[in-house]
Amino acid sequence: MILGAHAKINLNLEVLGLRPDGYHELKTVFQSLALHDTLRFELADETFAIVCASPGVPLDERNLVWQAARLVWYAAGRSGEPAGRVRITKRIPAQGGLGGGSADGAAALVGWDRLWGTSLSESQLRELAVRLGADVPFFLCAGSALGLNRGDVVYPLVDRPASWVVLAFPPFGVSTPEAFRWWDEDAGRAGTTAGSGDRPSRDPFAVFNDLEAPVSRRHPTLGEIRALLDQGGADAAAMTGSGSTVFGLFGAEEAALSASRLLAARGWRTLVTRTATRRQAGLGLR
Ligand code: C5P
Repeated sequence: MILGAHAKINLNLEVLGLRPDGYHELKTVFQSLALHDTLRFELADETFAIVCASPGVPLDERNLVWQAARLVWYAAGRSGEPAGRVRITKRIPAQGGLGGGSADGAAALVGWDRLWGTSLSESQLRELAVRLGADVPFFLCAGSALGLNRGDVVYPLVDRPASWVVLAFPPFGVSTPEAFRWWDEDAGRAGTTAGSGDRPSRDPFAVFNDLEAPVSRRHPTLGEIRALLDQGGADAAAMTGSGSTVFGLFGAEEAALSASRLLAARGWRTLVTRTATRRQAGLGLR
C-alpha cells in the first residue's frame, strides 16, 4: 500500500477574527502541489513502527501518522494497540506552511484504513481528520479547495489551471500559534485588521495572505525574498499558511527555473514544483 502525501500552498488566506475558542476564523484557498512525501504501509504482527531516515521527523506518538493509526483502529472498534509499519520518504520541508505533517496525517488515515480493511466511511475519515488538526481535512480533498471556519471546513473547487511554483525558504521558521498571535497584536495596535489592503475579491485564486504582514514585520528577510520573486518575474507571490515559506507562481518552467537561480545566487534555498489537480494529488476518496 503506497500513497503520495502532497504538499499545499494557501493561494490566499484571510483572517476574519479571533474566535471565542482561541482559534481564528479563516477564509482560505488551498492548492495542492506536485511535491509530495511517500508513505509505504505494511502489515505487522503486534508491533507498530514508523521508519523515516529524515532528521527531525518524530517516530513516536507526536507524529500525526501514529495518531492517525490510533484514530482509525479505535474508530473501527478494534481493541489493544494498532499493529503495522509505515516507511515515510520525506520531501516536504517541515514547519514551513506547506502542510507536510498534516498531509502525512491525512494519507495515514486512508492508508491504515485500506491496509487493515476497516472500511471507514468518508464522513468518518473526515471527522477523524478534524481531530488530527485544522489543516488535515483539506488533504482528504486535495486539488483546489476553499477552507472556512478554522480552515477545517473544506469545499472542493474546480481545479485551478496549472502553474509552475517556486518555493523559497527563509532561514527562520514560524510556529502557527506565533503567527496568529502576531496577527492579534498588530490588529489590536492598528485598531483594524492586520491584513494587506486591496484584495481582488471576485477571483477565488487571488494571491495574498493576511499573516504575511505580521510575520514580515518581525522577519524583514521575508520581504526581501518576496521582492526577489517579484523581480524574477513571478505572476504572483505570497507567504503560504503561517509561513515561513514564500511561493511564486509562473506560467512557464524556464521562467520558474530562472527565478529559482536568481534566489539561489543570493544564498536562499529554493525548490521548483508545479500545482497538482485533485486527481493527481488526491487520496482517491471522491
Ligand atoms: O489545528 P492546529 O493544531 O494545526 O493549530 C495549531 C495552533 O494554531 C492552534 O492552537 C492555534 O493557536 C492556531 N490556529 C488558529 N486559528 C486557526 C488554526 C490554527 O489560531 N484557524
